[in-house]
Amino acid sequence: MLDSALIDALRQARHVVVFTGAGVSAESGIPTFRDRLTGLWERFDAASLATAEAFRADPALVWGWYEWRRSVVHRAQPNAAHRAIAELAGKVPKFTLITQNVDDLHERAGSQNITHLHGQLERPRCFQCQHEPDSPLPVPDEPEAGRRVQPPACAHCGGPLRPGVVWFGESLPMEAITHAFQAAEQCDLLISVGTSGVVYPAAEIPEIAWRLRANVLHINPTPGPLHGERDFALANAAGVALPALIDAAFP
Ligand code: APR
Repeated sequence: MLDSALIDALRQARHVVVFTGAGVSAESGIPTFRDRLTGLWERFDAASLATAEAFRADPALVWGWYEWRRSVVHRAQPNAAHRAIAELAGKVPKFTLITQNVDDLHERAGSQNITHLHGQLERPRCFQCQHEPDSPLPVPDEPEAGRRVQPPACAHCGGPLRPGVVWFGESLPMEAITHAFQAAEQCDLLISVGTSGVVYPAAEIPEIAWRLRANVLHINPTPGPLHGERDFALANAAGVALPALIDAAFP
């Protein structure tokens, strides 16, 4: 049963921020970071592959892992949570979507003006000169095609392309994090969907909203501890909780 205070908070919100993590893509079949890797990659740990050092040491292995992830995303479809988020944007006066995800499922569900805090799989750049290729990457091979894939060469300087994602130890795009913090400060409702809230500075975003007196809702089958007042949780899958909440608030 949905809390009437939560439904009222959504109905009366002037500026809603939705902040998503890997859990929003889980029902599309995309493993979250805290899921163990499977198949060809089961003996690898995501954190050990998602670094500039790993790429420098073995570009083909790291590029191959991201090509595997790109192929999994390519074969996936947006789920009911992605669609509900795209629908919500048209129901509130002001809406901001911030994601930690590097997949394009929010885009494919129809969301626009998305702030990607951790970059995007579909936007590689040169590891040497940072140049972004003019043409998009080709359609990826089958996920199980194999582990090692040589990264393409930069047309600008010949260096290897690297995935367009933020690796551990790298700073987030300044414009994206600044925009995200500003939205968290200005909103009156922040809905956090499918994130473990353990990776900073992104994990600070719901905290900022709550501290500046916004209502905060966590949608996660295993939500973390709440502050108490103005802090809500729906311990359910995003693809179930979001459509139910929107239907209740905007019948
Ligand atoms: N609906 C909602 N939440 C879900 C679902 C679901 N169907 N399935 C799983 N979850 C939740 C899990 O309970 C978990 O809390 O999604 C969360 C996923 O957490 P992580 O795997 O840690 O992903 P995320 O929070 O996005 O990680 C943040 O860490 O590894 C880095 O850069 C990477 O962007 C990533 C960041």
